[in-house]
Amino acid sequence: MPFIEIDEQLCARDGICVAECPLDLLELSSDKIPVAVAGAETACLRCGHCIVSCPNGALRLDGQDPAGLPAVPRQPIEPDAAIGFLASRRSTRNWKDKNVSRELIERAIDAARYAPSGLNMQPVHWLVVETAEEMRRLAGLTADFLRQSGTMARFVEAFDAGKEVILRGAPRLVVAHADAEGWYDPTTDCILALAHFELAAHALGLGTCWAGLFMRAARHWPPLAQALDLPAGHKVYGGLMLGYPKFKSHRLPPRRAARIRYQ
Ligand SMILES: Cc1cc2nc3c(=O)[nH]c(=O)nc-3n(C[C@H](O)[C@H](O)[C@H](O)COP(=O)(O)O)c2cc1C
Ligand code: SF4
Repeated sequence: MPFIEIDEQLCARDGICVAECPLDLLELSSDKIPVAVAGAETACLRCGHCIVSCPNGALRLDGQDPAGLPAVPRQPIEPDAAIGFLASRRSTRNWKDKNVSRELIERAIDAARYAPSGLNMQPVHWLVVETAEEMRRLAGLTADFLRQSGTMARFVEAFDAGKEVILRGAPRLVVAHADAEGWYDPTTDCILALAHFELAAHALGLGTCWAGLFMRAARHWPPLAQALDLPAGHKVYGGLMLGYPKFKSHRLPPRRAARIRYQ
């Protein structure tokens, strides 16, 4: 079976799939039916743009009928509402004592599967830390790292005085990790996936905060890396504290004016 199949009855010969392929792996034959170029099957990113851009569902990719893929939601989102929603995301550092279900976390992770990734590599793996005991252990190991590295003394002092300023007493920690030993650098993709995750979490009424101290320690402090028990060759590329926000913001906070230059 060819990796791209065209239903010539459905094909409108409009060339959309050819235009949409990021690697020019499709071309129009003399009768305007798309055909794969030599070597396309190996080079293909499996990004799916060819099959999802066809208005008639005339292509199959690796046997996948586009009719079996989820529909694109069509409810219009007013621009003001969408942009206001993005601006309303804040870092959460105070949490309700309320359980965060796995179902909700998995819904946000599912949304993050559609984040862009270089060459459609989709390198991200997820670790969800969900017990208070484990959260305290990871915060403690992060404090150990800061203490021995002689940095962020204020945080260490506060932590040692009993104020959990590292993972902020969050109910959950969501970690993005990936293979760090291959040729591909997954840094940007992991951060993008987490950025999508946190916006999806916000849409679901959850709050997040980037766990910067933890992220740094996870990279540089072997006891913390070991505690995470990642697959061989994997590293932490980002982490978000997660839970229900205890307080609301009533205004957007002040931010710098955008600095823009056109060339
Ligand atoms: C870090 C990064 C680099 C990318 N670089 C390119 C690029 O140079 N050219 C391009 O056409 N697409 C680029 N992309 C887009 C990816 O190919 C695309 O996200 C992926 O195929 C999945 O498709 P989607 O974004 O439509 O879901 C890049 C994406 C990321 C995250
Ligand atoms: S899946 Fe993406 S890369 Fe592969 S043929 Fe279709 S559009 Fe091109």
